[in-house]
Amino acid sequence: MTAEPLLSVSHLSLRIQDHTILKDISLEVQAGEVVGLIGPNGSGKTTLFNVLSGFLKPTKGTVCLCGEDITHLSAPLRARKGIGRVFQDFGIFRDMTLLENILVAFESLTTDERRKIGDLRSATQETLAMVQLQHFAKKKAGSLSGGQMRLLEIARTFKGNKSLLLLDEPTAGVSPKMTHQIADLIRSLRREGRTVLIIEHDLPFIAKICDRIIVLDVGEVALEGSPSEVQSSKKLKEIYFGADPTT
Ligand SMILES: Nc1ncnc2c1ncn2[C@@H]1O[C@H](COP(=O)(O)OP(=O)(O)OP(=O)(O)O)[C@@H](O)[C@H]1O
Ligand SMILES: [Mg+2]
Repeated sequence: MTAEPLLSVSHLSLRIQDHTILKDISLEVQAGEVVGLIGPNGSGKTTLFNVLSGFLKPTKGTVCLCGEDITHLSAPLRARKGIGRVFQDFGIFRDMTLLENILVAFESLTTDERRKIGDLRSATQETLAMVQLQHFAKKKAGSLSGGQMRLLEIARTFKGNKSLLLLDEPTAGVSPKMTHQIADLIRSLRREGRTVLIIEHDLPFIAKICDRIIVLDVGEVALEGSPSEVQSSKKLKEIYFGADPTT
């Protein structure tokens, strides 16, 4: 008997006006897996995250979380059921301090979960230290650089109680040193048993941290496999660079 997938997407399509943006997408993510979602610009990755997190309703198909059909649930209800998201463009509160931004994440925890954390103030400082932003704790988030804002958003998402994390280009605009740190954070999430679906353009990065990679091309699942299978696939090269006329 195979375990029920944490996330199950079945025959999902999305049309906006006359454009088909997602075409008959079916995929499964098992609990505890770290899955990479890659594909050329405009292939539908962020749109798929919008459908998974409830910001867009699909034209056809279903999204199930732990076997429950959540296709018609609103984004806030899905968040309550355990779907957390890091946005491609920042979702942080610019007028709040860094400390306050992290405290917002703790607010989504249950009383029991909060009790386990203990002193919220030191837990907040520790969270900021994870991404080396502890010295800016009392600054307004809007005063951070682009890369620092992304790190703050990642730290905030990591501290919530979400079981499925959707990370949209978490390393975009982040220096190589911090990229390593983000990779370590994702590995620690896996150790905690959380499930991560991550969009990235950096293939070596994704290959290092993912169990499996799914490739989207013009709104369809074009390829799926282990990092080594996908990296060595001729089809991947065709998707990114076009078919080689000499072969
Ligand atoms: N609300 C919308 N209305 C019309 N077209 C849209 C809408 N949202 C997305 N699209 C189109 O859908 C396609 C997929 O966009 P999406 O943002 O999902 O791509 P992506 O794979 O995330 O690309 P990138 O790697 O550049 O972030 C694009 O052609 C985009 O213009
Ligand atoms: Mg995108």
